[in-house]
Amino acid sequence: MERAIFPEYLWAFSTLLFLAGIASSCSDRYWLLQKPVAFFIFGDSIFDAGNNNYINTSPRFQANYWPYGESFFNTSTGRATNGRTIPDFISDYAKLPLIPPYLQPDIHDYVYGVNFASIGAGTLVETHPGLVIDLKTQLSNFYKVEKQLRDKLGCEEANTLLSTAVYLFSVGGNDYFAPFQKNTSFFESEYIQKEYTSMVIGTLTNVIQEIYKLGARKFGFMNLTPIGCLPLVKALKRETGGCVQGFTEVAKIHNRALSESLQKLESNLQDFKYSLHDFFTSFGERSENPSKYGN
Ligand SMILES: *[C@@H]1O[C@H](CO)[C@@H](O)[C@H](O)[C@H]1NC(C)=O
Ligand SMILES: *[C@@H]1O[C@H](CO)[C@@H](O)[C@H](O)[C@H]1NC(C)=O
Repeated sequence: MERAIFPEYLWAFSTLLFLAGIASSCSDRYWLLQKPVAFFIFGDSIFDAGNNNYINTSPRFQANYWPYGESFFNTSTGRATNGRTIPDFISDYAKLPLIPPYLQPDIHDYVYGVNFASIGAGTLVETHPGLVIDLKTQLSNFYKVEKQLRDKLGCEEANTLLSTAVYLFSVGGNDYFAPFQKNTSFFESEYIQKEYTSMVIGTLTNVIQEIYKLGARKFGFMNLTPIGCLPLVKALKRETGGCVQGFTEVAKIHNRALSESLQKLESNLQDFKYSLHDFFTSFGERSENPSKYGN
């Protein structure tokens, strides 16, 4: 009897080990599948999480002083808001940590992604030159991150990370604000409505293509808000009452061109996927009916 029981006991024990082995390899695989995707953020003040704290610029392009941060972080992080930014909320929903600014000195690990955005930045290097991190420089910073990821993780894992990551953009508004501040009628010229808007969209499109070449596949964008209705714009134009309609028209031209360009990219680039949020409508709706949205 004892001889019979012993092997049975052994069998049960090895079954347990075997099951434990499956469980642990399953949970490993489960963990791999559940690994959060990385989140890379590009653009302007709508997205900056503090990059401009680390560049030599004017306080106009910084948000590292009170009351910025007042209602959430209780410290001025460099986000141009009292609370969290849209990428902060997305990170939260995606169960990612807060995505830090690329220039924050203690940031060396990019497996969850990183934020390249800069207050005041446009797509064009001519937009607030020397005071912001323009989109092309944001792209060169991304090259450095991409190289570091390949060195650290090896090519295969880096490729997986880059191709499953989400790349989010909010940029373009400053390409129109900067010249508007110099000449509040600049947008009336046909050159601005045609060549200039094409140049802004063309520069953004080139950056997207460069990131795609490195393996990026999943992109997200926000279009421009009704920029003629922003208080600063109305104040500069000194128009009483209404919005600067002509300026908002430029945003509409930009938004149509953006949407067309993204559709082209999707049909020309294999596996290119994107989502375009109609910020023009959602922002306009919120500023026209603030109380409906708790403001
Ligand atoms: C928030 O910051 C203010 C000013 O720095 C400080 O007086 C206050 O105690 C802080 N509140 C919390 C909840 O940390
Ligand atoms: C401002 O822009 C308008 C429209 O392009 C132009 O006609 C005008 O000459 C400009 N004014 C100045 C001072 O440059």
